[in-house]
Amino acid sequence: MEWLSLLKFPVIQGPMAGGATTPALVAAVSNAGGLGSLAASLLSPAQMCEQAEQVRSLTTRPFLINLFVLQTPSPSPQEIEAASLLLKPLWEPLGWANLPTPAKWCEDFNAQFDALVSLRPAVASFTFGILTASQVERLHDAGIAVVGTVTTVDEALAWENIGADAVVASGVEAGGHRGTFLGPQQEATLPAKSLWPQVAAAIKIPVIAAGAIMTGIDIQQALQLGASAVQMGSAFLVCDESGIHPTYRQALLAAAGTPTRLTRVFSGRYARGLENHFMRVMEGVEARVPAYPVQNALTTPIRAAGAAKGDPGLMSLWAGADIGRARPMPVVKLMQTLVAEMRTQ
Ligand SMILES: Cc1cc2nc3c(=O)[nH]c(=O)nc-3n(C[C@H](O)[C@H](O)[C@H](O)COP(=O)(O)O)c2cc1C
Repeated sequence: MEWLSLLKFPVIQGPMAGGATTPALVAAVSNAGGLGSLAASLLSPAQMCEQAEQVRSLTTRPFLINLFVLQTPSPSPQEIEAASLLLKPLWEPLGWANLPTPAKWCEDFNAQFDALVSLRPAVASFTFGILTASQVERLHDAGIAVVGTVTTVDEALAWENIGADAVVASGVEAGGHRGTFLGPQQEATLPAKSLWPQVAAAIKIPVIAAGAIMTGIDIQQALQLGASAVQMGSAFLVCDESGIHPTYRQALLAAAGTPTRLTRVFSGRYARGLENHFMRVMEGVEARVPAYPVQNALTTPIRAAGAAKGDPGLMSLWAGADIGRARPMPVVKLMQTLVAEMRTQ
């Protein structure tokens, strides 16, 4: 496929919403011969344009923009009240009389999509849902390659049928949110090394492998299991150019003994992160929190208060299962290390 052949190395830095994928990180990966990805799901169209412009001021190489496919919800006041009560054990100790209601639940997807088309990145990837055939056509008409994020073989087939150019097959070990959009999220739990060959056997378009890929040796294994490229999140999360909060970075660097697990308590959608106080307090009511993006918006002020105090117990510490193998260093050094390790295989 054309856009994959533009890359010197088959390494995609995974989009990571929440501040990690700074323009400096994205550009550094693309400049080093991989594909940098800007996470735009939480950005307004104006912020998307601003950040894409910054990437373009730092690199002339191709890069990717990622969006969550979402419909803006309209929860009832009763649902919000019930969700706020479930979170009371977390916000009451902060001295708050109530949980603030967010100004909006999420960015408007259609407006983000229009901005994306006008920005014309080489590649766009989508998570949490699937586009329509006409949306895929609009991207193709703008010269943008389309990548869908999948957690099952059925989802890979759905993206292939709609005209996608590739899929990211994300194993259960992957950090951050599960992209599951067909069937129950709890059932999409195939480990990476089972999922990749199954997806590769089922579809003709290229498979990008994601989940617990930390070294060049891991990359070679993924390629042997049918992938055409890899997408790595956790490995880039601790790079110098990553924009994460210092408390989060510290928790990741000390993560060797801390388990990660999937939880929906922060956002209403299963996502993998380091186990902490927030997860433990909410464990008993996990099934009752509202779906993404409502829970995500409701917990944002609590997580922000945690970050302001430097309290990792109140933050969402997204990380892949193999975060203990992450190596903090500048992007250029990580890319060189990965390539050298691939060549030893
Ligand atoms: C902090 C964090 C945020 C993430 N945000 C996104 C996102 O916005 N969109 C997306 O498609 N994937 C997101 N992911 C998934 C990554 O792009 C990547 O697929 C995943 O991290 C791969 O697994 P690994 O962490 O084991 O390398 C996120 C992952 C992390 C760790």
